Amino acid sequence: MQNSYKRVDAHLSSLGYCTRSEANKFLKMFSVCVDNERVFDVTKKVYHSQISVDGEILDAPRIVIVMNKPQHVVCSHSDAGVLIYSLLPPRWQRRNPKISTIGRLDSDTTGAILLTDDGALNHKQTSPKSEIIKVYEVTLAQDLRGDEAEVFASGELILNGEKKPLLPAKMEIITPTFVRVEICEGRYHQVKRMFGSVGNRVIALHRVSFGEFSVEGLKPSEFRVVNL
Ligand code: URA
Repeated sequence: MQNSYKRVDAHLSSLGYCTRSEANKFLKMFSVCVDNERVFDVTKKVYHSQISVDGEILDAPRIVIVMNKPQHVVCSHSDAGVLIYSLLPPRWQRRNPKISTIGRLDSDTTGAILLTDDGALNHKQTSPKSEIIKVYEVTLAQDLRGDEAEVFASGELILNGEKKPLLPAKMEIITPTFVRVEICEGRYHQVKRMFGSVGNRVIALHRVSFGEFSVEGLKPSEFRVVNL
């Protein structure tokens, strides 16, 4: 765990303040204190809570945030395009373990996405067993035909190329081309494929919430730290 008893340079580098090799220089340039006493020895072993940098406590050793993902950014560390991580503060971008998204949203999907550097949490939240409720606002190319809510709620809808039916999903009609959908799985392009299976096409998709975390009050690209 990042909050273990370890060398000052190991704390600083895992939290993105500097690299291990830059640590000596960092301690000369910034006032790094252990229990309020300035240190110059990068090898000194301490707990996270003992260290301050220029009078500020260190960034948390574990981080979970909810972001309002804007359009045209990708939830990947390696795909082409603008990576969602480029929207994080530079120091957080250098953390090790890396901050990663919990699941993914398509590049053109906006809204609630959780990010964390806690690999175990990430694994738990993305497990099919977790059945976390995700709420989407969906704008459709064509008017609803009428039976969609029933089809989605049936627990019998099988997406193209799959064998296992989807778990029941709820759909609330706001207008004939704008609905709110609640799903508890995270299959590939699930919402778009659900509407494809009933002869429609999604033209805009916004995730309002992921579990208990919503994007209310967050502008596109804004995020807040959450307790999870
Ligand atoms: N369903 C989709 O089709 N796309 C997303 O980004 C999320 C859910």
